[in-house]
Amino acid sequence: MNETVFPKDFLWGAASASAQVEGGWNEGGRTPSIWDVAAPKHIKNGDNCHVSCDHYHHWKEDVQLMKQLGLKSYRFSISWSRVIPEEGKVNPEGIKFYSDLVDELIAAGIEPLVTIFHWDTPVWVYKKGGWMSKKIIPLFRDYTKVVIDALSDRVKWWMPMNEPQCFIMNGYMQGLHAPFKHNYLALSKLTRNCMLAHAESVKTIRQYAKQTPKVGIVMASGCFVPEDETPEKIEEARRKSMETGMGLMSNRWWMDPLVEGKPVRAYGVYSSRERDMAEIAQPLDFIGLNLYQPFNVAAWGGDSKTGAAGMPRSSMGWIVDERVIYWAIRFVHERYHLPVMVTENGMADNDFVCLDGEVHDPQRADFIKRYLGCLKRAVGEGYPVLGYQYWSIMDNFEWAEGYEPRFGLIFVDYATGKRTIKDSAWEYKKIIETNGAMI
Ligand code: NOJ
Repeated sequence: MNETVFPKDFLWGAASASAQVEGGWNEGGRTPSIWDVAAPKHIKNGDNCHVSCDHYHHWKEDVQLMKQLGLKSYRFSISWSRVIPEEGKVNPEGIKFYSDLVDELIAAGIEPLVTIFHWDTPVWVYKKGGWMSKKIIPLFRDYTKVVIDALSDRVKWWMPMNEPQCFIMNGYMQGLHAPFKHNYLALSKLTRNCMLAHAESVKTIRQYAKQTPKVGIVMASGCFVPEDETPEKIEEARRKSMETGMGLMSNRWWMDPLVEGKPVRAYGVYSSRERDMAEIAQPLDFIGLNLYQPFNVAAWGGDSKTGAAGMPRSSMGWIVDERVIYWAIRFVHERYHLPVMVTENGMADNDFVCLDGEVHDPQRADFIKRYLGCLKRAVGEGYPVLGYQYWSIMDNFEWAEGYEPRFGLIFVDYATGKRTIKDSAWEYKKIIETNGAMI
């Protein structure tokens, strides 16, 4: 057996998000989020997330499955409207759901990693202006405080926000995600509200956490991979990965202000303001990276989202190219000097339950091994990587794509709620057991 390069406390885990797995949309005192009220025309097959994987009722079974797989960590998010169903009202039943989940995880030896906001803005917050209004800043602070008071005696790892660039781009610019708006002119304002809300959340966590917290921002941080590893190509890939030309999808639009307190201008018209920087740049302990495919996709003959026919692709159409994991970690760490956590990485495939009752998904097993091979390179070269969270623990509601893409380690039969552990998950378990030595 090879020696491992991974630290002994490396967090091998899997991830999910409340709106994507929980269901129980109108139970236990919860009120709707903007995703619950999305019109059927916005979601493939007219689906909705009202029941989803019904994790709200299956959570104990789900934690037992995680334990069976030997996971060391589980990244999940809190539903804001379950915890605060209307302005100024805390819902004890909602708090209890997450508190019980945390207890169950800890009893199973699994470290809880909590995302405070993963896109499911409560309808009541939306009606007050949502992310368009600066009223969201104190609302997000108060929500954070409620969560921290309830869970921080047991939870150490906190991520206030997941991929702000995506919920703003998809939800407020391209109209593809809730609330399905086309507000291109509001980018600077939306970003400012988001960053200031993030800052308030970080400060609140540090002020009220009952144990020293680890706080990080989670970014959809693809990058360009160098076409070869000559110094020139590496520098070219780094420059393109850090260009502001991609506007809000660029790494720098978010991380320069949040991590370094440096304002950014993009497309010549949008900018963050110097005078906000001292407030926005709250100290962070790590950067979470959600990594799927390189940004080279258009240069390689695809469009901005999917690779060209004939390339190795997932059922989302995304290119399978594991180099992105190494180069994103390297470029981000070299620029921002913080430890990194791979907070998401995974692939969707057309999985089904085979005649033998099992789910055979060799492509996903291969995907995990090839991406982990490049992660191992990064760790071996000394880049500080805290963990790897496969996306996702189970098949789930993929936003506007509905239930068609199956990203899970665990197959979910949506008609019955039955879970089946996929072959790739058993492979992942072996990798975890050897702390990555078999990669
Ligand atoms: C990014 C998001 O954080 C998550 O919600 C989504 O399901 C996956 N990546 C896959 O698209």
